[in-house]
Amino acid sequence: MPPTVIESAVSTFSAHYAQSPQAVVRAPGRVNLIGEHTDYNDGFCLPMAIEHSMAVAWSPRADRRVELVNADGTLPGFEFGLDDDLQPHADSPWYNYVVGCVKVLRASGQDLRGCSLAFSGDVPMGSGLSSSAALEVATIHALLAVANIQLAGPEIARLAQRAENDFVGVQCGILDQLASACCQQSQAMLMDCRSLDLQQVPLPESVAVVIADTGKRRGLVDSAYNLRRRQCEAGAAALGAKALRDVTMQGLMEAESQGLIDSETKRRCEHVVAENGRTLAAAAALRAGDAVALGQLMDQSHADLRDKFAVTCPELDAMVAVARSLPGCLGSRMTGAGFGGCTVSLVERQAVEAFVPNLLSGYAQRSEHRGSVYVTTAAAGAGPAVLPGA
Ligand code: GLA
Repeated sequence: MPPTVIESAVSTFSAHYAQSPQAVVRAPGRVNLIGEHTDYNDGFCLPMAIEHSMAVAWSPRADRRVELVNADGTLPGFEFGLDDDLQPHADSPWYNYVVGCVKVLRASGQDLRGCSLAFSGDVPMGSGLSSSAALEVATIHALLAVANIQLAGPEIARLAQRAENDFVGVQCGILDQLASACCQQSQAMLMDCRSLDLQQVPLPESVAVVIADTGKRRGLVDSAYNLRRRQCEAGAAALGAKALRDVTMQGLMEAESQGLIDSETKRRCEHVVAENGRTLAAAAALRAGDAVALGQLMDQSHADLRDKFAVTCPELDAMVAVARSLPGCLGSRMTGAGFGGCTVSLVERQAVEAFVPNLLSGYAQRSEHRGSVYVTTAAAGAGPAVLPGA
């Protein structure tokens, strides 16, 4: 068996610092079952944490310096001072996530301590499974543990989001960080992105969640993402609403007929308004154990993301079409920001074994990209990990 990320963080730590770490924390990636492009509109999302995660082994240091090393060698022993004037590093995006977390914690008044950190992660990067959020949330957990500070999950998520918004420069919402910080084992989590009210919703035993990576990396995602965000904000503002959360389909129709919004803005906003309703309906379906209803809502979500919000791509549409043609598939959609990355399908458990190879071969006939599939269970959110051998 390959080493787990926890084992690999510990062995990287021991090899680099010539001592054992004091402890390890981990933070998972996530897959969003439904509720896409709703988080920055104060809306609802329904993600679950996945088994792929980021682990950080740590020990305190006597001085006020932070040293970093990464199991895959992309972070060759970077070091900085907690009191330095910290600036983004053009050649090492990785380093920016970590330094961004230090900066937001410092700005929020936390009294950090120097530490040695070793990272190891297996969340595929750039595929929409929130490798950045896992990195940020794990980093914040480690920095807080070193300084013996306790913060609630939603607060950790807010800080992680701020690190990404302000230091890395991506205007993401709170979905990924909140899922990584607060999801629970075997549960999906209904999140209200306005109040940060979180409700755990159990997943039925009878279905499996299958993630399929199209192999298409998200191109131009940041600019297209920020554009969608602006269109949503413009739509809400034209209707005099704080956010699209507060807007109805009727309101959008009236605004278009009065010339307050153009037809493209209306289509974008319609997706968000409908998706909020679908997400609440999906949580209700899960509570009622109705996986068929959840699957139908996922299908509708994908159709709107393709036709109204325009964030799918031929590869995502092909993966979803193949999944929908296979026996036992109850629903399938793109997950994450879009423009590439992964789909998520809800599949009857007894059909999964045949579903996986058929999905891959069907996709191979329709795309020049190489797909890959992960059958995942709902994993626990971020927290301390048990040291190997303890
Ligand atoms: C990315 C962002 C999230 C969210 C999704 C779309 O994953 O990081 O905040 O907006 O896209 O739902």
